[in-house]
Amino acid sequence: MRPGSDTAKTMRQTPDISTPLPGPNARALIARDAAVVSPSYTRGYPLVIDRASGAMVEDVDGNVFLDCAAGIAVNSTGHSHPRVVEAIVGQAQRFLHMSGTDFYYEPQVRLAEEIRSIVPIGGAVRSFFGNSGTEAVEAAVKLARYATGRPNIIAFFGGFHGRTMGSLALTASKPVQRRGFGPFMSGVFHAPYPDVYRSATGVTPEECGAACLDFIEQQLFMHLVPPDEVAAVVIEPIQGEGGYVVAPTGFLQRLRELTRQHGILLVADEVQSGMGRTGKMFAIEHADVEPDILAIAKGIASGLPLGVAAARADLMSWPAGAHASTFGGNPVSCAAALATIALLKDRLVANAAEVGARLMEGLVALMDRHPLIGDVRGRGLMVGVELVRSRQTKERAIEERNAVVNGAFERGLLVLGAGKNAIRFSPPLVLTSDQAAIAIRIFDETLTDVEGRSSR
Ligand SMILES: Cc1ncc(COP(=O)(O)O)c(C=O)c1O
Repeated sequence: MRPGSDTAKTMRQTPDISTPLPGPNARALIARDAAVVSPSYTRGYPLVIDRASGAMVEDVDGNVFLDCAAGIAVNSTGHSHPRVVEAIVGQAQRFLHMSGTDFYYEPQVRLAEEIRSIVPIGGAVRSFFGNSGTEAVEAAVKLARYATGRPNIIAFFGGFHGRTMGSLALTASKPVQRRGFGPFMSGVFHAPYPDVYRSATGVTPEECGAACLDFIEQQLFMHLVPPDEVAAVVIEPIQGEGGYVVAPTGFLQRLRELTRQHGILLVADEVQSGMGRTGKMFAIEHADVEPDILAIAKGIASGLPLGVAAARADLMSWPAGAHASTFGGNPVSCAAALATIALLKDRLVANAAEVGARLMEGLVALMDRHPLIGDVRGRGLMVGVELVRSRQTKERAIEERNAVVNGAFERGLLVLGAGKNAIRFSPPLVLTSDQAAIAIRIFDETLTDVEGRSSR
């Protein structure tokens, strides 16, 4: 019997690595995977999960990890939260599917009512349901074009909005995501994202943001696309895959003014930054900005597939048949989302703010001992650490970053890379301060090891 196969056994609450990684059972599964699963998946290190609870994950060889990746920022309420599981089981026993596009059921209506109550959009709000982040973005883009009658979209360099053919045209994160797939949907223009750390020394967040807005006004609007032909600006308030880069508050506020001035819709892609992760329900709330459309997915249903485009109701007036998805708003996913939102409201958004502050503090303190750390940034439990070879030149420490991610895994801490040379901490929002301290300790040890190796 595999060590982790007894589901009744309680889970260790501290990391415990007892085999070389990957262990024998993990190795066997990875070999089977290699023969039959698409090689396009980006597996950074060989974790083969057997079971998980809260912020702890056990692999098929009985090794226990502290999870600061959460299935790419998805397991918001922790792994298999009992209230989420109970909601899923309860709904599964009633009915599994009836297509909310053609029939009615309460969980979808109730979820749309809940979403209306949590999104930072004033007035009446309607929701479109899909199954993923990319579908939420596709819906947002189609709706923006339909509602404005305008063809063009502005997105940002470094942005990630998904990999289907519409959202991929907006995605400008890594060339591998685009290579071989063009031509892309037309009518998409990109502007620089306000990356304060990467701007020239001495440039303030305000100046950095102003330069990006200036590019939109003086370059895009003057040379490439008149503003009255732009349907929407699509932006991640904190870039996720791009490296956990936080847009300055003033930039988001002025972007809102600019879009409003030209009748352009503002779409906030909160697929990664939303659902409480930043210590507010949505990251854009930190800037006190109201988008017109909000793309939501990942954390909304604690791990079940669900994507939502929530919009001002006056915009979402497209006719029957204009847009729909058979599985979108699946009742089991809706039940999971309702339980998730209740847990977030109850305690977990506040926990993300509190424990996120501890995590950020601890990571910032590591800068004194680790020259490899160039920048620590983020909000709540969405924290990025950018690694550089020199704080002066900011040369990207790409190999070192990969070594730190792998080294953390070998010590029992799950983190993921983001951007070219950043590491993201996106744990379940149930993370405790003690667990944050463990994550910081393991990260510290791993940095010491990698720095020691690179100086040799
Ligand atoms: C900001 C953002 N938008 C969209 C997506 C696409 O989501 P999905 O992979 O569910 O299609 C992602 C995924 O990482 C994301 O981070």
